[in-house]
Order: sequence, then structure tokens, then C-alpha cells
Amino acid sequence: MRILSLHVVHRKALPGGYAVLRLGGEALEAEPGQFVMLRGDWGFSPFLPRPFSLALVEGNELTLLVKSVGEGSRRLAAVQRGDVLTVHGPLGTAFRRPERGERLLLVGGGVGIAPLLFLARVAKPSSGGGLAAVYGGRTRRDLPMAAELAAAAENVTFVTEDGSAGEKGLASDAMRALLARPRFDRVVACGPWPMMAAAARLAAEKKVPCEVSLEAMMACGYGICLGCAVPAAGGGYLYACSDGPVVDAARVVWEAGDLEPVASAKPMPEKRRAGPRRARRPEGAS
Ligand SMILES: Cc1cc2nc3c(=O)[nH]c(=O)nc-3n(C[C@H](O)[C@H](O)[C@H](O)COP(=O)(O)OP(=O)(O)OC[C@H]3O[C@@H](n4cnc5c(N)ncnc54)[C@H](O)[C@@H]3O)c2cc1C
Ligand code: FES
Repeated sequence: MRILSLHVVHRKALPGGYAVLRLGGEALEAEPGQFVMLRGDWGFSPFLPRPFSLALVEGNELTLLVKSVGEGSRRLAAVQRGDVLTVHGPLGTAFRRPERGERLLLVGGGVGIAPLLFLARVAKPSSGGGLAAVYGGRTRRDLPMAAELAAAAENVTFVTEDGSAGEKGLASDAMRALLARPRFDRVVACGPWPMMAAAARLAAEKKVPCEVSLEAMMACGYGICLGCAVPAAGGGYLYACSDGPVVDAARVVWEAGDLEPVASAKPMPEKRRAGPRRARRPEGAS
């Protein structure tokens, strides 16, 4: 892990509170699935850096997708060209590199597309297998970087809950249809907790290995604060920053109450969109 001062090379604002940032200045060697902790020179509000997946690392530049949901991400989404950000990384585990001929199904929701896009961009030239993707969001505005995904994967199914782009429904509906035929060797999922729970369950039903990238709230990003705990199958906890974020889906307890109704096109109630309930920043930290 390194601590770098990188400057904003490019910022593209997208509808719906999203922004794509390109940061440059120093080379960072990272694998798809890894993340960075990020903060700007904005004093104490918020004090802690925030975790963001790498959407691409190329030469001296890295690309991030930021959705504005609170103070930290709002400040990051509003940076200007030339601003300097402190970057801790790369952190966490990476997706397994695709083997030659391996057929992957990527399942992403909202900003969960960022690490999958990095994987698709790295995997496509080397794997020689198939690279299909399902990308879901609430509305068409919640499919940022859709064009980049379409360029990187061979076959992308877009899904929105309101039907404003692609098929109407949930990512898991499209995933179920694709998994009906045995043509994938691995599912790789990143997005809201209920979507990943559904992906884990559907993949297990079809006996297809499934990797997920966990998005718990994080304070330190490297295993010190224990604030990113996720209940582990077999007891105990996985720490999303150091055991993950990329883990085998079978290692996680996907609580029955959090499972997405996989065959339903009905939008999820807001309170069921939350991630693992036990994951918290330490008391008093922001
Ligand atoms: C490994 C990892 C990779 C991530 N990659 C991306 C990415 O590529 N793009 C992106 O936009 N976001 C990503 N996130 C989520 C991002 O880190 C949070 O949105 C951000 O930290 C929120 O900070 P804030 O100060 O804006 O909001 P806060 O004020 O801290 O929180 C605002 C609201 O968002 C909720 N929230 C905060 N963090 C999370 C989280 N991790 N999961 C679910 N809900 C959360 C809070 O409960 C609260 O309701 C990632 C998170 C992790 C752990
Ligand atoms: S974020 Fe501190 S231990 Fe994971």
C-alpha cells in the first residue's frame, strides 16, 4: 500500500450525481477488484478517507466512478481539474485473473460496475472465453459508464427497475435467464447487498463459482478499525477491507431477510437496499 498525492486530470459529471474522475501523477500497480481510500484537502469534514473501487489503472492514470451520496462523495464528485487528492492504495483483494477460455458473467448494480469494468477491460483481450454482463440500476441515470461496459464486454444486458433503459426488472431476473443455459464458468458480482445476495444464491443453485466485491462502510481500509465486518459462513466475520473486498460468495452469510426477490420486477423498498447491518464506522468517526 502506498500513499500518493494525485491530481485530477479529468472530471466528467454525469446525470444523477455521478462523476468519472481520472487522477494522475504517479503510477499505481493494481489489479481489478482492488480499491483506494481517497480524501481531498478539505479539513475535518469529513475526517476519514472514503473507499472507491478502481475502474481502470493505465500508465500513470487511474479512473474512478463516484456517486454523490454524502459529504465525502459530494466533495469528491465536485473536484476540479488540477485539484490534489490523497490516495491510499491499492488495497484489498482482487478478482481472480480469468483463465484462458474461461467464460465469465459479470453482474453489476449502479457504481458496482466500476471494478467489473476494470476486470472486463483486462479480461477481454486475454481470456479467449466469453465475457457477458448484466448491468442494473433503478433508472437509466443509474447506469453510469454503460457505454464503456458495452465496449469492453461482448454481450451486455441492461436492466432498469422503471424500464427507462434496457429490460424492465432487476439484474437478478436477467441473470437467472442467462444462467438457465450452462455456459458460464464463473459469476462475478458487485452492487447493492440484495443484488449480490441474489447473485450468490442463483450461482449456487447452478453450481457456478461466484465472486463478489463487498461494499461495507470503512474507516481505515486496511484491517485496523474492524469497522467493516461482514458475517462469515461458518461463524465469525470477514473484514471487507482485508479479507475482501473480493471474496468467494460462499464465504458470506447472506441473511434470508436481505435476499432480493429474484423473479420479481417490483422495485425494492428503500430500507431493504442497505448493506450488511453490522458494518459501521467506529463510534464518533466521520
Ligand atoms: C470497497 C469499496 C468500494 C467502493 N467503490 C465505490 C465506487 O466505485 N463508487 C462509489 O460511488 N462508491 C463506492 N463505494 C461506496 C463509497 O465508499 C461510499 O458511498 C462513500 O464512502 C460514502 O461517503 P460519504 O461521506 O459521501 O457518505 P456518508 O455521509 O458517509 O454516508 C452517506 C450514506 O451512504 C451510506 N453509505 C456510506 N458508505 C456506504 C457503503 N460502503 N455501502 C453502502 N452504503 C454506504 C451511509 O450509510 C449513509 O446512509 C465503495 C465502498 C467500498 C467499501
Ligand atoms: S475498514 Fe478498518 S478494518 Fe476494515
